[in-house]
Amino acid sequence: MRLTDCHNTEHFRAFAKRRLPSPIFHYIDGAADDEVTYRRNTAAFETCDLVPNVLAGVEHIDMSTTVMGQKLDLPLFMSPTALQRLFHHDGERAVGKAAEKFGTLFGISSLATVSIEEIGATISAPKLFQLYVHKDKELTRNMIDRCKEANFEAMALTVDTIVGGNRERDLYTGFTSPPRLTLKSLLSFAAHPAWAANYFFRAKFELAQLKDYVREGTDFSLSVADYFNTMLDQSMDWKAAEAICRYWGKPFVLKGIMSVGDAERAVDIGAAAIMVSNHGGRQLDGSRSPFDQLAESVDAVGDRIDVICDGGIRRGTHVLKALSLGAKACSGGRFYLYALAAAGQAGVEKALTNMRNEIERDMKLMGCRSIEDLGRHNLRFR
Ligand SMILES: Cc1cc2nc3c(=O)[nH]c(=O)nc-3n(C[C@H](O)[C@H](O)[C@H](O)COP(=O)(O)O)c2cc1C
Repeated sequence: MRLTDCHNTEHFRAFAKRRLPSPIFHYIDGAADDEVTYRRNTAAFETCDLVPNVLAGVEHIDMSTTVMGQKLDLPLFMSPTALQRLFHHDGERAVGKAAEKFGTLFGISSLATVSIEEIGATISAPKLFQLYVHKDKELTRNMIDRCKEANFEAMALTVDTIVGGNRERDLYTGFTSPPRLTLKSLLSFAAHPAWAANYFFRAKFELAQLKDYVREGTDFSLSVADYFNTMLDQSMDWKAAEAICRYWGKPFVLKGIMSVGDAERAVDIGAAAIMVSNHGGRQLDGSRSPFDQLAESVDAVGDRIDVICDGGIRRGTHVLKALSLGAKACSGGRFYLYALAAAGQAGVEKALTNMRNEIERDMKLMGCRSIEDLGRHNLRFR
């Protein structure tokens, strides 16, 4: 399989499946319980249709949008995701460089494998840090301080991982971070020698923000669900979120807001944006999809904060549908993670090229010169 053959997210997924040992592929690809929510996140976009206008003079179009005070050339950005150097040895470096080239934002996770300092010094794209509130308050504060120092533009507090989701594919494959060396995992590494050579002979895998505080995830293998259950602070509440927002002092985002009541509270505590998200179906299976929940979120708070539709995006038309309902931008994980696993930075750039081409072509076919031209008038639910 070649990169030039990857014309859509599904092609990248197939490529990633070949390149990665199966526990790692299924960690990216899998979701919680029966994966009903995971499937619905994308299927929801098929519940409505675009109604185009024509003869609109679309020779030049503008795809830019402004979210969290940042002007982006594309209305789609890279959500923060954990453990990226497991998927490709360049990890966050590759994703950041690709974001830079496409003028879009990218997020790094608290469980990132490249340090805040390195990303701050080497990537000029707008950067968002995704915060997990740890029981160790010193660690949590340290991550925020480091982001201030490194001039990150925005911070997202993830609020939908108060406990770990039940990711049954990980239970079945025995996925841990770092990968545990068992007979089964070694056999799967042996079947993917290129991946294994990179993993064992390049820079040691580590959780760069956490390694000086906790050994879990870097020296001790454990599942991501166990990490959430043992390390994260389950007492986190609105008061804590507000205090972090104040302490951070720059654009602050709540990632994983679903209800209108919570969207209103996000406004009250001073958030600049919400990411309507169910963590890519990886947490509460049976939860509503971001696209299904988008209109009521926009109606409730869209005039006061940026509403971002996170998850399920696999096509340019999905982005257009979310923008038509009033999202300021869309974001996603797997659409670029499969590409990262397939071919590193070149892969992520190809995935972004595909998406940018689709969004541009689809806007022209819709008769839209800028994303402000999109609205509910051009959408019909079946
Ligand atoms: C492999 C993987 C790791 C992720 N790690 C994190 C994380 O560390 N923090 C976080 O807030 N969200 C994380 N997410 C969720 C993404 O930020 C995003 O919400 C989700 O991927 C959106 O769904 P999509 O993959 O369908 O686009 C992760 C998702 C995936 C697939």
